Amino acid sequence: QANLLTIDQLDAEDALDLIHEAQAFKAGKQVELLHPAYAINMFFENSTRTKTSFQMAEKKLGMQVLDFNAATSSISKGESLYDTLKTVESIGVNVAVIRHPQTDYYLQLTQNTNLHIGLINAGDGAGQHPSQCLLDMMTILEQFNCFHDLKVLINGDICHSRVARSNAEMLWRLGAKVYFTGLKDWFDASLAKYGEYGDFDELLPQMDVINLLRVQHERINGTADAQFDESEYRRQFGLTKQRATQMKSNAIILHPAPVNRGVEIDDELVESPQSRIFTQMQNGVFVRMAIISRLLRFQNLL
Ligand code: CP
Repeated sequence: QANLLTIDQLDAEDALDLIHEAQAFKAGKQVELLHPAYAINMFFENSTRTKTSFQMAEKKLGMQVLDFNAATSSISKGESLYDTLKTVESIGVNVAVIRHPQTDYYLQLTQNTNLHIGLINAGDGAGQHPSQCLLDMMTILEQFNCFHDLKVLINGDICHSRVARSNAEMLWRLGAKVYFTGLKDWFDASLAKYGEYGDFDELLPQMDVINLLRVQHERINGTADAQFDESEYRRQFGLTKQRATQMKSNAIILHPAPVNRGVEIDDELVESPQSRIFTQMQNGVFVRMAIISRLLRFQNLL
């Protein structure tokens, strides 16, 4: 595989292969590069987890990691993303990890272009977040060992969420039953093919996985929802301590983070026994090692 840009590039078997490789890395698998390999992480939108996790994955694989600062790059002089990528490819970079606020930014890099560098999408606007999706699937698989008929609730700011889009599609493909809750205005009808929209309090006691989403203030500001009321949101859709008592005893809580504590989820639940939020972050390093390994094998570097 040359690139990983959207989750629909992966069928269920591909996704499970990547997760199994990530599990092997988690169990201590080591690899040795056949030749020196170079990575660059180009983040045009802020990140803590995804960026540091990719950096850690690259270093654990033995790659050299180049610095890149979007604000001081020649993008600020008007250079296109394509020319920026062609430049880093020309100087010898093998893998570029890109986060960009523009949904589908990668189309300008892959349609009728001449790029050979391996590209990994680390999140595009409200589009896709394939590495987050795979680390979420790994975390679910660790708990339940299979996806068939598992009930997964995706709750929250769905229309702004690339995580919701990638996870709904992959969960459906893996055989899970997907449900959506949250503000009706924030539901994305294009996801209805993957699962049904319902009432949070009715669905919560039946669910195996509660996949909370962050309220994305940065995407809401400037829209009709800018006057968003956090306490009202918590009352209707937050996973409160009171609501958590309705969860099945073996159900788990996922959240891609960063977490708005006291909005989507009560503070006390973030590190509770049913929360897998920090396990997700730990698994992210191993999933990203698996994704990068696949690209390096394609380039005969591994
Ligand atoms: N989950 C996630 O993508 O977090 P960051 O925005 O911190 O990378």
